[in-house]
Amino acid sequence: MNTKKLNRTTFKTSREMDFFSEKELVTQTGHEVSEWPLVIVKELIDNALDACEEHTITPVITVAADASSITISDNGPGIPESTLAAALDFTIRASSREGYVSPTRGAQGNALMTLFPMPRVVDPAGRMIVEANGKRHVITVRADPISQRAVVHDDVSDIPKSKKTRLGVNKIKQALSSGTSISMEWSANEEEGIICWPFDGLTVHGKAYPGSFAQRFRELCMGFAMFNPHLTLHLDWFGEKKTFTATNPKWKKWLPSDPTSIHWYECQHLERLLGAYITHDRDAGQDRLVSDFIREFEGLTGSAKRTMVLDAADMKRMKLSELIVGDHLDSGRIEVLLGAMKRHTKPVASRRLGVIGEDHLRAFFVDGLGCVPDSFQYAKRTSEQKVKKSDFGADDKASFIPWCLESAFGYLDDGGDEDEERRRIFAGANFSASIKNPFRSFGSSGEGLEAELNKLHVGGYEPIVFGLHLVHPRLEFTDRGKTALIVGG
Ligand SMILES: Nc1ncnc2c1ncn2[C@@H]1O[C@H](COP(=O)(O)OP(=O)(O)O)[C@@H](O)[C@H]1O
Ligand SMILES: [Mg+2]
Repeated sequence: MNTKKLNRTTFKTSREMDFFSEKELVTQTGHEVSEWPLVIVKELIDNALDACEEHTITPVITVAADASSITISDNGPGIPESTLAAALDFTIRASSREGYVSPTRGAQGNALMTLFPMPRVVDPAGRMIVEANGKRHVITVRADPISQRAVVHDDVSDIPKSKKTRLGVNKIKQALSSGTSISMEWSANEEEGIICWPFDGLTVHGKAYPGSFAQRFRELCMGFAMFNPHLTLHLDWFGEKKTFTATNPKWKKWLPSDPTSIHWYECQHLERLLGAYITHDRDAGQDRLVSDFIREFEGLTGSAKRTMVLDAADMKRMKLSELIVGDHLDSGRIEVLLGAMKRHTKPVASRRLGVIGEDHLRAFFVDGLGCVPDSFQYAKRTSEQKVKKSDFGADDKASFIPWCLESAFGYLDDGGDEDEERRRIFAGANFSASIKNPFRSFGSSGEGLEAELNKLHVGGYEPIVFGLHLVHPRLEFTDRGKTALIVGG
């Protein structure tokens, strides 16, 4: 009998691998490989819109797709070299989205991290090209099969000033000096006129007939035009072009750089944010005052207000680290702090989050989609209509979360084309279009948007368009991929 024992060695495998296999990317994105082209489009349009808005630039975005690439370009500030380099460091996760409760776009922080390895995972020749600030980065990311570590290639070159970009259009000239263009590329695969993208053998070419992938792809892009009155969107699907022009270039919404309101937080959210600040400070050898933490919130920048909150919570000159007792945060004191902050802050009105508005939706439905003008209907519900003013401020527990739900309906003038006779639903949240209809279940009935529409006799083959958009600072989802919203009441 062999009595020799195996002394197991503990191997450390890198977290970097989280991003480099098909299986892991499916988990990270919450979408199957065949839906990755939609993930690419959604996340890159989200990023482009966010970047433009942060720099008060009226967004102009181009989405182009052909046999071997998807390209999203914007007229924004241009992604900084340092941000790109940080995103390519797979050993750290950095996100400015985490911790704060706010009505931001984007299902995922770290979108770029999941997108970098994607082309290479689906195709050995796959790569990502980022053009910004006069530089062109050809990026490939793969896992080293032996060390299981990330192998990142970032070939940087100058973009010649005179050179026409791959997109070669006038409007892209602007994007050369400012703006970002991101392409995902793979090798072309065409057999007998049928184009196959390497995402699970996705067949993509041909007319964008209802239900086809081409239609899904285009409708995802169009959703962004529908939910963003300030956006001009150019769509180029295998040379078939369509433009949705901004109806209100000066349109305003809540920005990620705007302070968040304490009314959007419950104790657990505040604890999480405090924990993140304390950790951040500890790493930087700092320890900020509770007073400086409070200053970051909407309506609490003034010193008079802050003094009142600190007095009420008995936290004058207190440091954040003093909120730690033993190995955890002092929930009792945080609860008191939260109550004091809420009492001394006016809630944010729903209209400040951003309202798409009837005019834009009418233009989109009638001019953009070809709905019969007389058939157009619009409705809006806001939190103010539901919650009485006296409901908040009265006691510490009552918080006020603003929201605004807008819907639009139109009948399609199908011009006798039976193929077009199909219900089209656009659903989105926080000014971002969604890959799957996020309104799959309402309140306690458990029935979703599609079931509700069926009840109203607008079944799947009725030639109608229905749009539904919710802006809410604390969207809650049922699933990890953040595709199904929890909608109460
Ligand atoms: N099109 C763009 N223009 C300018 N900056 C961008 C663009 N896309 C991404 N960025 C920058 O890269 C960062 C990382 O993007 P991402 O990985 O999607 O994470 P997140 O959007 O959650 O911050 C963004 O915060 C932004 O600063
Ligand atoms: Mg993003």
